[in-house]
Amino acid sequence: MADNSTTSETPSATQAARKIYKIVKYPDPILEKPTAPVTKFDAELEQLAEDMFASMYAAQGVGLAAPQIGLSVRIAVVDVTAGKNPEAKIVLANPEIIHAEGEKREEEGCLSVPGFRGYVMRPHFVTLRAQNAKGETFEMRGEDLLARAFCHEIDHLHGILFLQHLSMLRRDLIKRKIKKLIKKGEW
Ligand code: NI
Repeated sequence: MADNSTTSETPSATQAARKIYKIVKYPDPILEKPTAPVTKFDAELEQLAEDMFASMYAAQGVGLAAPQIGLSVRIAVVDVTAGKNPEAKIVLANPEIIHAEGEKREEEGCLSVPGFRGYVMRPHFVTLRAQNAKGETFEMRGEDLLARAFCHEIDHLHGILFLQHLSMLRRDLIKRKIKKLIKKGEW
């Protein structure tokens, strides 16, 4: 998910050794493919999660799912403070929404669809169950932007982009514009 705020900076706490992944863009087919569950919780997975945070901050996003870095695995990272609060870092391995409440329609963007936004209806409150990078199960409730980010990233893990939630008119307009950009070599 793309950052909603106007000011974003790379956090100073990010270790220099982190791998910054290139973000996969629509219409790469990996973005529309359901992911495989995480089964191995080891040092490699913890490193992947940290690299995903670093890649997300570098791209000024508030959420990033593994398919967006070319890995069809059920893991995503979320930080709605965009790196400003280290305690806001959330790793979501094998997440599922267990409760949703209310509705809220807000503009949304995605690092894999850069430059385009659209209004998407999402639950106002969401409770999810997931595992952290160590494999420990937790439940977490999110409101507003956090609820939106949870839904957006879990969608990614099921091969669903925010474009699918837009009106057909808006979606087709964005797809046409992207096609033009691809033709011009500007995508
Ligand atoms: Ni996204």
